[in-house]
Amino acid sequence: MTTLQHYLQFTDLTASQYAYLFDRASLIKKKFKAYEKHQPLVDRTLAMIFEKASTRTRVSFEAGMYQLGGSVVHLTTGDSQLGRSEPIDDSARVISRMVDLVMIRTFEQTKIECFAAHSRVPVINGLTNEFHPCQILADIFTYIEHRGSIKGKTVAWVGDGNNMANTWLQAAKLLDFKVNVSTPNGYEVNEKIAVSAGEISAEHYQSYSDPMAACEGADLVTTDVWTSMGYEAENEVRKQAFAAWKVNAAMMAVAKPNALFMHCLPAHRGEEVDADVIDGPQSVVWDEAENRMHVQKALMEYLLLGRLS
Ligand code: CP
Ligand code: NVA
Repeated sequence: MTTLQHYLQFTDLTASQYAYLFDRASLIKKKFKAYEKHQPLVDRTLAMIFEKASTRTRVSFEAGMYQLGGSVVHLTTGDSQLGRSEPIDDSARVISRMVDLVMIRTFEQTKIECFAAHSRVPVINGLTNEFHPCQILADIFTYIEHRGSIKGKTVAWVGDGNNMANTWLQAAKLLDFKVNVSTPNGYEVNEKIAVSAGEISAEHYQSYSDPMAACEGADLVTTDVWTSMGYEAENEVRKQAFAAWKVNAAMMAVAKPNALFMHCLPAHRGEEVDADVIDGPQSVVWDEAENRMHVQKALMEYLLLGRLS
């Protein structure tokens, strides 16, 4: 029996697989823009399981799968037996007998790992508390489109040491760039979670207490909500703790003159980022959102069909 290729965290693929996916996503995007049909997944079905809210992830996977010629089944905790405590391994056994691919957005990473362990088909992480690999896939593709290779570049992460920050760290080690991270005390990235493969060296990761210092000379400045899904009870405490970790024009001014700004969205103008930054000329957030669909189409095609020429 061949081992299934899942996409549960960024480290599940190699640098060479990423190089292929970025090229493929570029081709798939060109075809989409030219209204040219690209339907390698006719008769294939994707199940999308959401235990948390979503706009981009749902639309990008659903529209993307239809464009590839396939179809989708959308499940939430509220309208399936998942919300009535059917064991995750039983759900995986059943769902994966009927579909070709599964995308899950859930809470603990252990849940998606359990699902994958009992699934007959590839499983994709559509966000967990620990990781958001599809978003970083889109972000790096967007960086490449605007500025070329990310190798050797510096990304400044300002804000929460959350699923996005963890995934940036994994990507930095794998694709050989650096992440400067600045988080408030008590909200640091969990380096052990982020880099499951072991140590991360100073050439790939540096921690700063001052967010301005983290942005100095950066090629890309990025942030995310102060309160991620599942942590809503901490909202007010976090607003106090994160007040100095708002990306503003002064931070962009100490980054490289051609630095980009990214945010996975949804954004809160005036909280984690000022409006003049996210709506300003260095921001590529709309390309970043659109690119979710193109890279995920390349990913779904790859997980089901392998490398295509
Ligand atoms: N960035 C992102 O994953 O957005 P959604 O929560 O809308 O899916
Ligand atoms: N860190 C955020 C990302 C939302 C797309 C969250 O987990 O809610």
